[in-house]
Amino acid sequence: MNFTGAHILSIAQFERQDIDLLFRTADLMEPYAQRKRMTRVLEGAILGNMFFEPSTRTRISFGSAFNLLGGEVRESVGSESSSLVKGESLEDTARVLSGYSDVICMRHPREGSVEEFAKASRVPVINGGDGSNEHPSQALLDLYTIERELSAKHRSIDGLRIAMIGDLKYGRTVHSLCKLLSLYRNVTVVLVSPQELAMPEEYLQALREAGHRVIVTDQLEASISNVDIVYSTRIQEERFLDRQQADLYRGRFRLNSAIYTQHCEPNTVIMHPLPRDSRAEANELDKDLDDNPNLAIFRQTDNGLIVRMAMFALILDVAHLVETYSRDVRWHNPRTQS
Ligand code: CP
Repeated sequence: MNFTGAHILSIAQFERQDIDLLFRTADLMEPYAQRKRMTRVLEGAILGNMFFEPSTRTRISFGSAFNLLGGEVRESVGSESSSLVKGESLEDTARVLSGYSDVICMRHPREGSVEEFAKASRVPVINGGDGSNEHPSQALLDLYTIERELSAKHRSIDGLRIAMIGDLKYGRTVHSLCKLLSLYRNVTVVLVSPQELAMPEEYLQALREAGHRVIVTDQLEASISNVDIVYSTRIQEERFLDRQQADLYRGRFRLNSAIYTQHCEPNTVIMHPLPRDSRAEANELDKDLDDNPNLAIFRQTDNGLIVRMAMFALILDVAHLVETYSRDVRWHNPRTQS
C-alpha cells in the first residue's frame, strides 16, 4: 500500500512489506517517544481526534503521538457533545471536520461507521475502533510488541504460537490481530472462549487460508501450556444487551500467578490490549502477575505511542524528515534522569 494520504480502516489493507516499513519507522520514533529528542516535523498540522465511545489509551496515545511530532490536537469526546445528537449525519460531520483537520482518528460504536465517515472525508481517517469489527492500530502495536518480545529470544513472528483468550466474538483487537497474523508463516493460534463468544468464522477462515494451525477450545489451562504468548481479553460488556448477560461469562478465564506458574512454559509473554477488568468478579489478569517480568501489558501501551507516531509520519509523508527537524530535549526528563 502507499501510506501517503491513506485511510487506515482495516488490517485487510496491509501486506507484509507495509508492516515491515511501519515497524522500522516505529523504531526510529523511540527516542522522540522517550523525550530524548524532540521534533517539530508536523508543525502546523492538526489532528481531529473524534471519540464517540469511551477510550483512554487509543485517544490519548494518538493525541500524544501527534503532539510529539509537533502537531496540534483538537478533540470531540462522546456523541452527546457533538452535533450528531441533533441528527447530523456522519457524512456531513466528516465533510465539516476534514476542513478543520489534516488527519482524523475516529472511534464509534457502530461497525462500518468509520469507513462510512472516511468516504466523505477530504483527509485521511484512522479507525480507532468501530464496534466489534476492527481496531487496526491496536493490532499493529500488539504485533510490534510480539516482534520485540520474540526478538529478545532470537525468534521471529513466523513460527509464533499464541493463545487468544476471552471474548473473541466481540473483541475487535483479536479480530484485527488474526487478520494481521494471516500475513505470516507457520503460526499456531489457540482460541480459548466460551462457545457463545467464539471467534467469528471469517477470522478463522483467514487464519486457515494462511495455512496456520487453529485450535478452538473452551479449556484454559490445557491451552496455555505450549505457547509463546497468552493474549487475554476483557468480556466486552458494552456489546451485550445488559450487564446480566455479560455476567454469565465474566471471570470465566482468569489468569493468575499460580495458574501461570503451573501451566505456562517459562518466559511465556502475557499480553492484553487493556483495559483489564479489575473488578473482583472479573479479574481476567490478576494483579499478582504485575511483578512478573513476562507481563508485557505496559510495554504494549508504550509501544502504542511509537507505532502511532510512525502511522502519522508515513500518512503525512514526513518520516524521512523527522531527524532533520529535530533537536535534543532541554527540559528535565523524569523518565531518564534522577
Ligand atoms: N486498547 C484500547 O483500545 O484501549 P482504550 O479503549 O482505552 O482506548
